[in-house]
Amino acid sequence: MANSKTVIIKIKRQQTPESKPYSEEFELTYRPGMNITSALMDIAASPVTRQGKVTTPVAYDSNCLEEVCGSCAMLINGQAKMACSALIDNLKQPITLEPFSKFPIIRDLQVDRSVLFENLKKVKGWVPVDGTYDLGPGPRQSAEEQEQAYPLSRCISCCCCMEACPQFNEKTGFVGAAAISQVRLFNTHPTGKALKVDRLQALMGDGGIQECGYAQNCVEVCPKDIPLTRSIADVGGQVMWQAIKDFFRT
Ligand code: SF4
Ligand code: SF4
Ligand code: FES
Repeated sequence: MANSKTVIIKIKRQQTPESKPYSEEFELTYRPGMNITSALMDIAASPVTRQGKVTTPVAYDSNCLEEVCGSCAMLINGQAKMACSALIDNLKQPITLEPFSKFPIIRDLQVDRSVLFENLKKVKGWVPVDGTYDLGPGPRQSAEEQEQAYPLSRCISCCCCMEACPQFNEKTGFVGAAAISQVRLFNTHPTGKALKVDRLQALMGDGGIQECGYAQNCVEVCPKDIPLTRSIADVGGQVMWQAIKDFFRT
């Protein structure tokens, strides 16, 4: 382990989506309160490896720097985490940084997470509104309904839950926990529930909710503590009832 004044970081790098990955190691001066994003900024300011080789700054995504935008997710010491809230003090050294393994690489620690947005489109993860005229105030939600909806609305689309899920892979095409939890959110919304049947039918069949093996990795890694397994159980029940209704209707 490095002495207390330095931070050792090993980074898996890749110049282009097609090129071969390689590893580089950096030794940084420790500062109290340092997090992974600030360490990556230090590397960008002086991109020299521990061995003294001048290199390029490491590419990574970030925006809000306060665990709100969801862009800075990566594998930190092998776990899906947000770089901006991962404090160096809480990490075992040498720290390893890798891009998410289940998403196409763009460069270094940047990956293409558009699959989540495609999955949200699939399950109609929105409240349908006609923006062409003033609809007036929407229906009210009770305090209890708001309390249940609020934790679900905190999803930051980071994809940590999908990276950690054993069922999220090319073979299953599973939509993942985030999209399912958004179905729960919008199915309870007074206006959003207009699309409830469409959403439940989108979760039937290949890639749907039955692909979930209930391993619970998703809920463990979610940085916003969203009750994902409760959402999966709740939506699973809704999908089952919808399937029964559809069966008797045909
Ligand atoms: S419960 Fe397990 S299988 Fe289901 S979404 Fe979460 S991690 Fe994936
Ligand atoms: S449910 Fe949690 S882990 Fe999954 S995308 Fe949303 S915030 Fe990230
Ligand atoms: S930079 Fe926005 S969540 Fe980390």
